[in-house]
Amino acid sequence: SGIVDFYGTHQAGIATPSPNFILFAAFDVTSGSLDSVRSLFQAWTAAAAAMTRGEPVGEESGNDHLPPTDTGEAVGLSPSRTTITFGVGPSFFDNRFGLAGKRPAALVDFPAFGGDELRPEWCGGDIAVQVCSDDMQVAFHAIRNLSRIGRGKVVLRWTQEGFQRTSAADPEGATPRNLLGFKDGTANPDTASETEMSEVVWAQAGDGANWMNGGTYMAVRRVRMRIEVWDRSTLADQEQTFGRHRASGAPLGSRNEFDAVDLDAKDANGKPLIPLNSHVRLARGDGSARILRRSYSYSSGMDNKTGQLDAGLLFICFNRDSRKQFIPMQQKLGQSDLLNEYIVHNGSAHFACFPGVRQGGYVGETLF
Ligand code: HEM
Repeated sequence: SGIVDFYGTHQAGIATPSPNFILFAAFDVTSGSLDSVRSLFQAWTAAAAAMTRGEPVGEESGNDHLPPTDTGEAVGLSPSRTTITFGVGPSFFDNRFGLAGKRPAALVDFPAFGGDELRPEWCGGDIAVQVCSDDMQVAFHAIRNLSRIGRGKVVLRWTQEGFQRTSAADPEGATPRNLLGFKDGTANPDTASETEMSEVVWAQAGDGANWMNGGTYMAVRRVRMRIEVWDRSTLADQEQTFGRHRASGAPLGSRNEFDAVDLDAKDANGKPLIPLNSHVRLARGDGSARILRRSYSYSSGMDNKTGQLDAGLLFICFNRDSRKQFIPMQQKLGQSDLLNEYIVHNGSAHFACFPGVRQGGYVGETLF
């Protein structure tokens, strides 16, 4: 039926399989009361649960003299594996709602990273809403109706659409390729393993913020690719950049995508097969800090200043504590990743994604 349960121990849209499309939205809160934020999340919970089941938002009044309750563009469309995931950013914990004392220590403002060229129009936000769906119209309908419900309480701060190959184009569901042509997502933790997820992704009660027990921290980075430069670099250069073969996705020197990554492997001259500053070697490090990547490609038309495509990766990862996982990883990558020649990070945000909700509860109830 294409329904992903909205309710559960954890929010959907994190460990659940990635549908074809994403519509990410960051909102800022414009009303200053905790009561109004709480009632907004109660209304959002009901609407999100309905929309992920493929149902319209609310009951129609039947009154011709009122606007319809639901905007209508998803009528007759299937649930399309839609997930709606909510989080709050560091700015949510200023003194507006009296929640400063509940800010998790892990929800830091990201430090500046090497190579950042951040633009305010793609950064931050009090609230994150990640909609993933197999249908873009269904995803649009979700964000539109959530914004509509939030009118007078929240305003959109920034949005980004993203895509990957669809399941129609790849019924086997192989690892998707990013816009640099490489398989992306090979070395990810096993989302089916609750042990691995608890270690890498889910925050625990003892981690500091009890209300985040079963939640997770989300890093969002809008990473533009310098496609024109990449397209002029040789296949060998491209493969050295990542440390993997383009066609198979195998580690350099190996045959198959899921072959073990042997960082000690050397060629006949004693040179490491996986270069010292390759993306995979730096991101892997000693293997102790891991993250769950769940990124999408994006293409946002043309950059009017240069006449080139504004396209790249909407990098999204989830981790239990960004201070120990995402941040040190990105610091290392920002410093010396060979990939930096071909990318620029121009958007950034950090969110605490709430634990899951059971039926009858509402998103954020452990915090508000
Ligand atoms: C691995 C692409 C940004 C963390 C990979 C791989 C590719 C790739 C092709 C190898 C296949 C795989 O295991 O998925 C990209 C591109 C990026 C980008 C195109 C930006 C445009 C980042 C960022 C981080 C990151 C910002 C985290 C700070 C990782 C990790 C791995 C990886 C942890 C797996 C390393 C391993 O254990 O083998 N990436 N990546 N990547 N990337 Fe990225």
